[in-house]
Amino acid sequence: MGKKILVLSGSPRRGGNTDIMTEAFVEAAKNAGNDAKAIYIRDKDIAPCRACDYCAEHKGVCVIKDDMYDVLEEMKTTDVIVFASPIYWFMISAKLKIAIDRFYSMNKVGFHITSAAMLLDSMSPDVFGGSEKMFHDMCGYLKWKEEGIVTISGMLTKGAMKDSPNLEKVRELAANI
Ligand SMILES: Cc1cc2nc3c(=O)[nH]c(=O)nc-3n(C[C@H](O)[C@H](O)[C@H](O)COP(=O)(O)O)c2cc1C
Repeated sequence: MGKKILVLSGSPRRGGNTDIMTEAFVEAAKNAGNDAKAIYIRDKDIAPCRACDYCAEHKGVCVIKDDMYDVLEEMKTTDVIVFASPIYWFMISAKLKIAIDRFYSMNKVGFHITSAAMLLDSMSPDVFGGSEKMFHDMCGYLKWKEEGIVTISGMLTKGAMKDSPNLEKVRELAANI
């Protein structure tokens, strides 16, 4: 039986390079027999974690009633989570980071997720270290198996990803989950 895979896609730019990576990943994961879908974080109204610790006293329920509720509900049946993001100032996008911060509400009750992957794209090479470190440390802390990271640089224009031979690496990662 296939796995349930959820891609949190973090580019503010609709139809850009990260969206192209996300679509390729979801398609390949589905072709490999998985139940895969993407949530485009830009379409969601998600406020930052307030660190109020309401969740700690309320079985992991977050006090903030916004679109993160549905994302967290989706995560309760997700096996593999995938973070897709453009590099913004040597890091994942702020929108995606805000959503990840909200995972905090689930931290004490625990996650259904057992593994994770990351898809990153950028203009320049050698700009992925910060995001990769965050991913490794997060997986280590949460005891999620690392399915892999794909990094694709050289994305100088919107849609350049369409012509990138590296898109194949995204499909390979998806097919091997
Ligand atoms: C605000 C902003 C910050 C960026 N910072 C970096 C950076 O630090 N390093 C880099 O190589 N590219 C950087 N880029 C380029 C994007 O990562 C790259 O063009 C990416 O493919 C855009 O993805 P998208 O089409 O999904 O928006 C930045 C772009 C923007 C808009």
